[in-house]
Amino acid sequence: MKAMSKTIRLAEKDDIEAINNIYNQAIDTRCSTGDLEHYSLEYRKEWFESHTPDKYPVLVCEVDNQVAGWACLSPYRNGRTGFRHTIEVSYYVHNNFKQRGLGSLLLKSIIDKARELNYRVIVAMLFHTNTGSIKLLEKYGFEKWGCLYDAIDIDGVVFNHLCYGLKV
Ligand SMILES: CC(C)(COP(=O)(O)OP(=O)(O)OC[C@H]1O[C@@H](n2cnc3c(N)ncnc32)[C@H](O)[C@@H]1OP(=O)(O)O)[C@@H](O)C(=O)NCCC(=O)NCCS
Repeated sequence: MKAMSKTIRLAEKDDIEAINNIYNQAIDTRCSTGDLEHYSLEYRKEWFESHTPDKYPVLVCEVDNQVAGWACLSPYRNGRTGFRHTIEVSYYVHNNFKQRGLGSLLLKSIIDKARELNYRVIVAMLFHTNTGSIKLLEKYGFEKWGCLYDAIDIDGVVFNHLCYGLKV
């Protein structure tokens, strides 16, 4: 297989559509997010505006000049002041690019960002069946900190919601 050139950088406005498409693709899989309906581009533009690089950065991974995955830091518990040193991580890789190291590159880079921005705790929330995500998180030192049993219901299929955490 031809070696891929992978680049990580801060997301820009031109990436919003690709970011939204990758997220909507994850919705369709019915096993990695509790969202059930696609987000519009208008919603994603507002979301992007609220993710300023100094507080809630969004990173993209480009493969041969195409956005193939992204990761971000978002406020935990709606950014209530007592949680100001804690941040929630999310990451999504396009289906065509999974299991080629992009998730690893994205998670490593967003952990570095969290450290740079002086966050103390990173939280990741995921379905108990999300083997890829569990493997990825554990690779970078995250541990299972909790489980919300039967918290998710997707089309009648029930999942536990796991909480993984890392002190940075
Ligand atoms: C989870 C996700 C980001 C992983 O991305 P990826 O690019 O496939 O990750 P990598 O290729 O870097 O793989 C990381 C490790 O996990 C393993 N892995 C990835 N997917 C796997 C799977 N489905 N089953 C078993 N192991 C898996 C890889 O083998 C690799 O292990 P290694 O480094 O020891 O060889 C990707 O599957 C995805 O986008 N899933 C949907 C979105 C999601 O679940 N996000 C989490 C909620 S925020």
